[in-house]
Amino acid sequence: MPEPDLPERHSTDALMLTGFWYRALPADRVHRNQLHKATLLEIPLVIGRDRAGQPFALRDSCPHRGMPLNGGNFDGENLECPYHGWQFDVHNGQCQLIPSLTHDQTLRVDRIYAGSFPCEEQDSFIWVYIPDAAPQGAGFTQPAEAPAPAPQIEKFTTKCKTAYLQAEMPVSIDHGIIGLMDPAHGPFVHQAWWWRNRHSIHEKRKNFEPIPNGFRMSAHTPSSNSAPYKLLRLYADAGSITTTIDFVLPNLRTETIRAGKYWFSSLTTVTPITRSQCRIDVVAAWNLFRWLPFGPELLKFVFAKFVEQDRRTMEMQAEGLKHNPHLMLIDDADRPAKWYFQLKSAHLEAKRTGAETKHPMQGPVTLKWRS
Ligand code: FES
Ligand SMILES: [Fe+2]
Repeated sequence: MPEPDLPERHSTDALMLTGFWYRALPADRVHRNQLHKATLLEIPLVIGRDRAGQPFALRDSCPHRGMPLNGGNFDGENLECPYHGWQFDVHNGQCQLIPSLTHDQTLRVDRIYAGSFPCEEQDSFIWVYIPDAAPQGAGFTQPAEAPAPAPQIEKFTTKCKTAYLQAEMPVSIDHGIIGLMDPAHGPFVHQAWWWRNRHSIHEKRKNFEPIPNGFRMSAHTPSSNSAPYKLLRLYADAGSITTTIDFVLPNLRTETIRAGKYWFSSLTTVTPITRSQCRIDVVAAWNLFRWLPFGPELLKFVFAKFVEQDRRTMEMQAEGLKHNPHLMLIDDADRPAKWYFQLKSAHLEAKRTGAETKHPMQGPVTLKWRS
């Protein structure tokens, strides 16, 4: 039975999901023997690279008296708290030295830990795994292990180029994500003379299918006013171009476009910084444009323009959200947003009960909207 098309009242809970990898910082900003501050899910972090270039992430709080560690001395191996000089191994947080101890004092220094997080470098970013019970810097918690490696961009050839861009948005993770998957704002937010205008709005039909922890916009020929499509038409005939878009919890949007031997992939994440602030990071990889010297710049220009339009929109939206308005989600344009909230609560429910996640979609669905 079709759902009645009544708008659904909705308020976002802005809940940030633990037990996942998150992008913390662009890898090219984190240098050897240096320390950087970052915040993920309201957790203050100090991130750096050891002398071999291996990245690490610690809670930016000394287990002794909570002093931020980012201002301490770092020799490429151990990080020294600036308050009383306790030293911690940056990779597991284990305390190495407490300078105030005398020879005959038997305190087990090695049982003390600064909170340490699994940390990996992948596709231009330093990723940090935030476990369910994140180390509080409480002193005796050994580092958790991540159940799987950090997410990767799908690449179809070994030779390819990559680029990233990022933007901070003054809205909760939920608004950041549903803004990312919302098809209806295109004609109003993403206008440009070289692109499209609000009069190019037309009806679209897209097939969606459930995938583990997410949903997929099934492989289709991209709509004629989409950015990648316009660029790809330079390479292949329109009919051979297909694109697939996946969304997977907690925040991963993958877009894969293939045109014969050419391909373009992107992995976009919306990362919760605090309850009311998120950051969008787009990393793209492609084997196109190699013969076109300005290709990557053109691509970056197009994406940067879109991301900036979204950022500005969310900045304005944040003004409206300050007053805690009632919100609604409508069919079908807001159906992906509904799935997101349903996936999120199904995930939390499964974690609570230990049962399998109940996917909100029963099977493939066709959605229609005008954009
Ligand atoms: S607060 Fe860090 S050593 Fe005392
Ligand atoms: Fe957008």
